[in-house]
Amino acid sequence: MNVMCGIVGIASNFMEDRSIGVLLKEALLRLEYRGYDSAGIATIYNNKLYIKKDKGTIKEIHRKINFDDLLGNCGIGHTRWATHGSPNLINAHPHCDCNDRIAVVHNGIIENFYELKNKLISKGHVFKSETDTEVIPHLIESHLKGRVRRSSVEEAIEKTIRELKGTYAIVVIYVGLPDTIFCVRNENPLVIGINSNAIYCASDITAFLPMTNKVLMLNNNEIATITSNRIEINNTNLEETDINDRKIVRISWTPEMAQKGGRPHFMQKEIHEQPIAISNTLKIDWNKILKFGEYIHNTPPGNIYITAAGTSYHAALAGKYMFTKIANTQIHPVISSEFREYIGNTLNNDSLLIAISQSGETADTINAIDFAKQQGAKIISITNVLGSNITRKSDYFIYTQAGPEIGVAATKTFSVQLTSLALCSLGLAELNGSLLNNEILEFKNRLNNIPMIIKNFISSKEEKVRIIANKYYQNKNFLFLGRGVNYPTALEGALKLKEISYLHAEGYAAGESKHGPIAMIEKDYPVIFVAAPDETYDKILGNVMEMKARGAKIFSIIQENDQTIKTLSDDFIEIPRNIDLPFSPIVYIVPLQLFSYYVAIKCGYDPDKPRNLAKSVTVP
Ligand code: M6R
Repeated sequence: MNVMCGIVGIASNFMEDRSIGVLLKEALLRLEYRGYDSAGIATIYNNKLYIKKDKGTIKEIHRKINFDDLLGNCGIGHTRWATHGSPNLINAHPHCDCNDRIAVVHNGIIENFYELKNKLISKGHVFKSETDTEVIPHLIESHLKGRVRRSSVEEAIEKTIRELKGTYAIVVIYVGLPDTIFCVRNENPLVIGINSNAIYCASDITAFLPMTNKVLMLNNNEIATITSNRIEINNTNLEETDINDRKIVRISWTPEMAQKGGRPHFMQKEIHEQPIAISNTLKIDWNKILKFGEYIHNTPPGNIYITAAGTSYHAALAGKYMFTKIANTQIHPVISSEFREYIGNTLNNDSLLIAISQSGETADTINAIDFAKQQGAKIISITNVLGSNITRKSDYFIYTQAGPEIGVAATKTFSVQLTSLALCSLGLAELNGSLLNNEILEFKNRLNNIPMIIKNFISSKEEKVRIIANKYYQNKNFLFLGRGVNYPTALEGALKLKEISYLHAEGYAAGESKHGPIAMIEKDYPVIFVAAPDETYDKILGNVMEMKARGAKIFSIIQENDQTIKTLSDDFIEIPRNIDLPFSPIVYIVPLQLFSYYVAIKCGYDPDKPRNLAKSVTVP
């Protein structure tokens, strides 16, 4: 199974003057954050299929077998994140049929692959790998009869997908059609990019961004047949869809936005991009914020839920506090993978689900949305990727303005999610009158200062955070504590450290610490406090003292000149004043992002490619 993975296909009219291998390799490098345990490319040249693939990162494989000399006008590529079938040469994509005439790359899960594989084996098909993907080229092969034309490959693909259960994005080439790629998707992402001498398809836009920003979205169960200058899209009944009225979207992201910009890692670059990302998000049209707020305002109390996974869930949880404090409105946060069991059949036409997702492709969140929709709930969402599954499933959405985020650890997308939620809470306060107009204006003005506050903070404090990280990196366990709206900040700080440094870090509500976690504390056990001076301050001060009394090493994130906690702390980072406390996570998270980044560096890990993780988790 290949559940995250990056896939790409190119149909070009370059003829033989430019190596398609170079283009596919470069596109794969831009998709590598989706998975990086093996990779491969297939092209068609002189009526023969050429495949190069192996275990390892794209650079490692390229050094060994050189992708650049692969020729042809079209080809496909894959970078893998394996969950089933070890990452090795045999299991790497592309996969072929018995006669090496069909090559396939796939992102998703074919749930009924055992059954299909056994059926195909009984008919004489020979399998080489342990993957589910390999059933696809064999099924296509089994449906290809007689003289092969474009239409017969389309028909064979259509018959194949009727047999598949599960989710997929698939790109196919056939040796007899050296200028054509075929692609189809069901729930997993696949977008088409168009420029004058080539057409691309890929798991996401960044793969072809240096070549084109003109994008066409492929819907579920549509088969696209692509040559260098033509796209034909059929539905699964092979009825042609008129694409003339289908909107070609021009993406505003530039190729530079998806480069490291002179920094060693995307993660560091993306932490530094937060001021601009927040500033752009603050420019979202106020009418859009109000429209989003209207969905909430028009929902009867008690019927509003917010769901997300990972970092986005932490933003959702902080959003819950913001909505309570700023707009006096209750929303129920639910982790998306728990949504179905937690909510059961208690939703109805009066329910509203707010979904938060950077990628807009997270399977758990999509499942929560589908489940809520089945019960009649309305869906509104906040995502960073236009045209993603979640935006398309939503009745209304807000598009955050972070630009592409390549580092697997979410940083700038977290701060823009928080910023959007802050704006939405203010929009809702305007609609339900819980704040006066001049109060809302003052909140907005202070929000507008946050980009500059973060910019100055990073330039003056990054080195101090690095020095602190170098002091702590040898600890194996960390406790992160926060209260109120900064409880989610503590959770997020712990998640960042876990995912890129592989150190055990627990985020906890500080009040809960004495109900168990305090038993772990012994001399020099590191406890990291997020201690903003809000109404929870006195209580968190008590928690600091409890930990100190038991010998913990205290690292605190405090407001500047907080002498009390400063004197109790072994290390501290001061955050400037004049930040509205319900919105303080937008700033208080920054030192924790930098801390995890520098701990990972000191431990010798690549923070952009944490082990076992991938950027988009497209498996439930
Ligand atoms: O794309 P999404 O925001 O829906 O992704 C949700 C999580 O998979 C994601 O936030 C994950 O936890 C990040 N790696 C955290 O840095």
